[in-house]
Amino acid sequence: MQKQFKRYLVTCALPYANGPIHIGHLAGVYIPADIYVRYLRLKKRDVKFICGSDEHGVPITIKALQEKKSPQEIVDYYHEINKKSFKDFGISFDIYSRTTSKIHYQTASEFFKKLYEKGILYEKETDQFYDPELKQFLADRYIIGTCPQCSYEMAYGDQCEKCGSSLNPTDLINPRSALTGAQLQLKKTKHWFLPLDKYQDVVKEWLFNNHKDWKINVFGQCKSWLEQGLQPRAVTRDLNWGIPVPLENAQGKVLYVWFDAPIGYISATKELTDKWELYWKDKETCLVHFIGKDNIVFHCIIFPVMLMAEGTYILPENVPANEFLNLEGDKISTSRNWAVWLNEYLEEFPNKQDVLRYVLTSIMPETKDNDFTWKDFQAKNNNELVAILGNFVHRTLTLLNRYFDGKIPLCPEYSNEELQIFNEIYNIKKEIENNIENFRFREALKEFMNIARLGNKYINDNEPWKTYATNPLKTQTTLAICAELCGIISVLGEPFLPFTSVKLKQILNIHNYEWDDVGKKPIFSSGHVVSKPELLFEKIDDSIIEKQISKLYKNKDAKYLPIKDSIDYETFEKLDIRTATIIDVEKVEGTDKLLKVTIDLGFERRTVVSGVAQSYKPNDLIGKQACVVVNLKPKKIRGIVSHGMILFADVNDKYVLISPLEQIQNGKPIK
Ligand code: 2FM
Ligand code: ZN
Repeated sequence: MQKQFKRYLVTCALPYANGPIHIGHLAGVYIPADIYVRYLRLKKRDVKFICGSDEHGVPITIKALQEKKSPQEIVDYYHEINKKSFKDFGISFDIYSRTTSKIHYQTASEFFKKLYEKGILYEKETDQFYDPELKQFLADRYIIGTCPQCSYEMAYGDQCEKCGSSLNPTDLINPRSALTGAQLQLKKTKHWFLPLDKYQDVVKEWLFNNHKDWKINVFGQCKSWLEQGLQPRAVTRDLNWGIPVPLENAQGKVLYVWFDAPIGYISATKELTDKWELYWKDKETCLVHFIGKDNIVFHCIIFPVMLMAEGTYILPENVPANEFLNLEGDKISTSRNWAVWLNEYLEEFPNKQDVLRYVLTSIMPETKDNDFTWKDFQAKNNNELVAILGNFVHRTLTLLNRYFDGKIPLCPEYSNEELQIFNEIYNIKKEIENNIENFRFREALKEFMNIARLGNKYINDNEPWKTYATNPLKTQTTLAICAELCGIISVLGEPFLPFTSVKLKQILNIHNYEWDDVGKKPIFSSGHVVSKPELLFEKIDDSIIEKQISKLYKNKDAKYLPIKDSIDYETFEKLDIRTATIIDVEKVEGTDKLLKVTIDLGFERRTVVSGVAQSYKPNDLIGKQACVVVNLKPKKIRGIVSHGMILFADVNDKYVLISPLEQIQNGKPIK
């Protein structure tokens, strides 16, 4: 058993308010946290459950630009949608706040000022990449280039997703803007830095002395960060969306979103309770952060350093981060619409929140990435929830109503078999507790389902429908025991299946029976009246699942055209593709789509007509290098002889110029 604390503060990663929540979020962060917190509440522990929207950061400003809205409009919209989704799925936060709240601005500004006044943050002028087309310094994520460690050409300015190295944008070879493709300029700008390097030893000591028991995936990532050596990090940015840096000489600067977001946990607690300091500053509080694996360094190193530096806060006791959930074998992706969105799920499966909660818990990516498939969803619903749990409860209620008018019969002395059952239930309860306290939610769920399995076996072995004629006392015992098991299912199921638990308690007419009463006193006494059976779960037909699968694949099919017929190498070699520079572009009069493009091939200049006027304005293309099929027979288009084909990627009808990564001589062959 884990050490018991006087109180618990449980936080969930604040989701960015720039898109809806999908099953990956639920399985990775919010369901495990909700199971944990519901359990703590049932154990009568003092717990606060904190979350809210993360409403700053560059992606939100970009979404706003794309949708021609203000960042505030974007976050207002998604904050409400996400808050509702969490509520609909029974994620029982005590507060769902937001980082654009006044209290958060105040809290984050004061936190920054305190670190500044303590002389911890220091000011430094650095060279940062500036996108001349956007007229803006770029966030690390929007700078791409070649990774100095593994040569991956699409590494981000903060991290290489191929080899996992943590990077600074200036480490990248050939950095360019991921937003405009522009070559970047290094410009001087001033920022405030958190000297993580100075905390290397204390962080190491804290983690290695106290937290070697953290999940392997979490501890391993921290260890590798420490081995690479912590570096100072800027905690401010040049941006016009965020919390202004609360200093005099800081015009146009805001707090870095990863500085203000975790402070959001503190602000939300303040908003929730006047006793917030007890939860954040008393050594007898257990602070637990539930997050996905991409947030590990921020919660296990950077935020703890911020808290250490501030000096009055406690540090997290555990950070049980999960890995990722995939969907039908492919990474969940918002941009490709490869996801199951919570709001859509509920429209299509009304009142089936617990089915999704059950399935997602059973496949939770606790130690490695895992996969959600609709077929598995159907199988788990039909073969487990319906056939095991629902069936046991339904049989019990049917027989109680048939033979005893819905009243719990008097139960004579228990035989050894019955005593054995209660012994097993007590062990199962301990296992559930032990697993939940150690963040093994899949195991906990399995144990929970064993109660229904045990019930089914018991009722099958004892056949109360047969003994009713020959040995009615036996039937009484059997059904009293089965009723008790159903009651235990309703009580111990609450963390996993909260909606079903409420429904079942209503059917069984259970009030005021606590988690810790299980194993200590019976739920029912004879004569207690239960209702008629109702279906807790219903079978999901193939046709419904097929509809979901085809809906999902429709997105995929639209984005991935079938591969054309094979060609042999000789045919391929017939294509003559060369580098060229676009030197002039004008719109073709009287058309929406055509551009007349003049290219320089080094050995000659040519005119090519391209149908990309809806993706590029002439000025966007002039000066860019391109790849051109030069041996295509000339063709007259709108009276213009087009000689060649400039290569563009077709991204859902938006064309993107294919340009060499480096400036090269024109006319060079591409093979
Ligand atoms: O990765 C994310 O979705 C971030 N918005 C998580 C922030 S967690 C915390 F620090 F607020
Ligand atoms: Zn790399």
